Amino acid sequence: MSLRVEDLTVYYQTLRGDVRALESATFSLADGEIMGLAGESGCGKSTLSNSLIRLAPPMKHIKGRVILDDQELPIADLHAMNEYRFTEISVVPQYAMNAMNPTRKIGKMAEELLRSRGIDARKALPELERRLDLVELDHDVLKMYPIEMSGGMKQRMVMVLSTLMDPSLLLADEITSALDVSTQKAVAKMLVGFRDREIVKSIVVITHDMSILYQIADGIMIMYAGQLAEKASTETIIHSPRHPYTKLLITSLPKVGVKHDEVRLKGIPGNPPLLLDPPTGCRFRERCPLAFEPCMDVPPFVEIEPNHFVACWKEGGANA
Ligand SMILES: Nc1ncnc2c1ncn2[C@@H]1O[C@H](COP(=O)(O)OP(=O)(O)O)[C@@H](O)[C@H]1O
Ligand code: SF4
Ligand SMILES: [Mg+2]
Repeated sequence: MSLRVEDLTVYYQTLRGDVRALESATFSLADGEIMGLAGESGCGKSTLSNSLIRLAPPMKHIKGRVILDDQELPIADLHAMNEYRFTEISVVPQYAMNAMNPTRKIGKMAEELLRSRGIDARKALPELERRLDLVELDHDVLKMYPIEMSGGMKQRMVMVLSTLMDPSLLLADEITSALDVSTQKAVAKMLVGFRDREIVKSIVVITHDMSILYQIADGIMIMYAGQLAEKASTETIIHSPRHPYTKLLITSLPKVGVKHDEVRLKGIPGNPPLLLDPPTGCRFRERCPLAFEPCMDVPPFVEIEPNHFVACWKEGGANA
């Protein structure tokens, strides 16, 4: 098993109180697995991803453990995590493309990044060039400024840099969202290439775009309002979902790429609850067409058949 997350709970500390963005997440990721992580905006996808790699204030680790390749990660200790970041676990963050320094040439940026990790950039150059070939980028990009590159080129460059040290786990947070549809497909295929060539062992692909996940993910995990709702093989999530939220998500999300993060469920009223003061019990309760008395308690995330987990009193087999 590549990754095991147990009871992970992470809040944001704010002046108005704790934002309960990730509640008791327990799941695992198999060796070689590409797992999609989906759900509406604000449901805690980036919080989960960031917790695995850089749990910095205002984020606060409440409880839970993360085990990567049989080793527990010191996620609550930012300094101790330096040893694992980039080498064992790496992230292509949401908005990474826009965060590139416009006054630095790409090669210079790569060099600085490598130096900050104690790697001699000259020695790493041949491998860097091999990786550029892999994502079909000309070696001349190293002499370019970010403004001279298209969105797709920048995204591929960020992917190359974040995987240069062959991390075990790669977290890709909305990396296709700002791209046009054909570039989205190319970037998604490259992620699969990284896994197939064993540059990375497993990948978590965060997106609200189910069509991308259908193409590349082995399994999909659905989150709602900071809680895990369902996890199963891609086939099962798309064709026979059990959680009422997953069912609505599957039928209401656009089939081809949307450009940004602002996805709302059509056909069911309301919005996800604010996580400063979330409802007790199942957080989907207020929007759920099947809600009944037992939903006042938090439904456990149970395995209803091998490799299919659901948190729902009605559909999950967790009999009330
Ligand atoms: N820095 C922050 N301070 C307070 N609340 C935050 C912060 N970042 C995110 N949140 C809240 O945490 C919840 C989950 O956010 P996020 O993980 O970014 O969702 P997603 O990636 O699924 O869109 C949201 O309710 C959001 O408002
Ligand atoms: S636990 Fe209840 S409210 Fe939550 S999804 Fe299931 S039926 Fe709906
Ligand atoms: Mg996000």
